[in-house]
Amino acid sequence: MTSPLLAPYEGPHLRLRNRIAMAPMTRGRADDVTGVPHPLTKEYYAQRASAGLIVTEGIWPDVLGKGGPGIPGLVTDEQVAGWREVTDAVHEAGGTIFAQLWHVGRMTHPLVLPGGATPVAPSAVGIRSERIHTSEGSVPHVTPRAMTTAEAETTVAAFAAEARNAVRAGFDGVEVHGANGYLIQQFLAENTNRRTDRFGGSREGRLRFALDVVHAVADAVGPERVGLRISPDNPENEIAEEDPQGTYRALVDALDPLGLAYLHVIERGAYGALADLRPRWSGTLIGNFNGPEPTSQRAGEEVLAAGLADVFSYGRLFIANPDLPARFATSAPLAAHVEHLVYGGHAEGYVDYPSLARV
Ligand SMILES: Cc1cc2nc3c(=O)[nH]c(=O)nc-3n(C[C@H](O)[C@H](O)[C@H](O)COP(=O)(O)O)c2cc1C
Repeated sequence: MTSPLLAPYEGPHLRLRNRIAMAPMTRGRADDVTGVPHPLTKEYYAQRASAGLIVTEGIWPDVLGKGGPGIPGLVTDEQVAGWREVTDAVHEAGGTIFAQLWHVGRMTHPLVLPGGATPVAPSAVGIRSERIHTSEGSVPHVTPRAMTTAEAETTVAAFAAEARNAVRAGFDGVEVHGANGYLIQQFLAENTNRRTDRFGGSREGRLRFALDVVHAVADAVGPERVGLRISPDNPENEIAEEDPQGTYRALVDALDPLGLAYLHVIERGAYGALADLRPRWSGTLIGNFNGPEPTSQRAGEEVLAAGLADVFSYGRLFIANPDLPARFATSAPLAAHVEHLVYGGHAEGYVDYPSLARV
């Protein structure tokens, strides 16, 4: 039986050659000063263009949203020109590519930000249990500064501007990163949002930033070009959601009528998010599991067979298997990636993993 992952997908706004998406993965190889993607980034993504959909690594809309060394931006003309080379290469290889819009909020450090700026977040709630990778090695986090209401509004506008830049750079669409404990989830979660203005104070208030960003981005480039990634009940990066069902059901119900390109759900934690949210979402749904080991082909197939998602995204397996769909199709052996070459550096561990034809 052929794998359901290999069937083409035709959704309301997406036509994909298969149901395998490449999940967004930060690789830390952009120029740290200019935020322009590495000259090899076009080759890296073009090698992986047989995925039905590529979602890029997270890209900042505002330099205060940069989470580590070598993370690219999509603000300046030079950055747009760098990404244009990437999208051209992927399109030439027959692929579809969305840019991930990523503001990290409190998950950064003065050593990462220009001028030693203090990270901004919904509230001045620091992270105690984790350290952060900087140019001076791994260091403890600092307490972030709470955004003013005006800063929250400016940041919403920065996401919309980034989406316009993404379209100028030739991307097929954008994915708003609302997952994994970064800025948008910091607004959604009770423990990181202690605000008393209209961006906090109640469930409606906690949802407002996420909804404003998605609406602003959809107004900027059209809802059919916008996806949203969420990770309900994900404790990563010291997020504690008291009522994930209440929060995410309300978020999804508010966004479903917009006609977005897709909802990308990372399932993690006790809340069975895919099963709970699937019936509430009438558009395309992309599933993802984020466990300690790279997710298997079979796990994605089971999700599709159960009707819990239309497309399934793979992260780690794409690092060392650029032609992952061909390997799934032929049950070919899967290569393992080299851990210390994941972040930063140049070609090694980036564009030198061979495809099957070259093994
Ligand atoms: C090296 C690496 C970088 C990642 N960077 C991002 C990112 O920039 N944005 C994001 O939403 N998720 C990011 N993730 C999470 C992946 O998109 C995905 O959810 C996770 O790897 C689980 O899928 P897998 O089991 O197929 O690897 C990253 C994961 C890895 C391994």
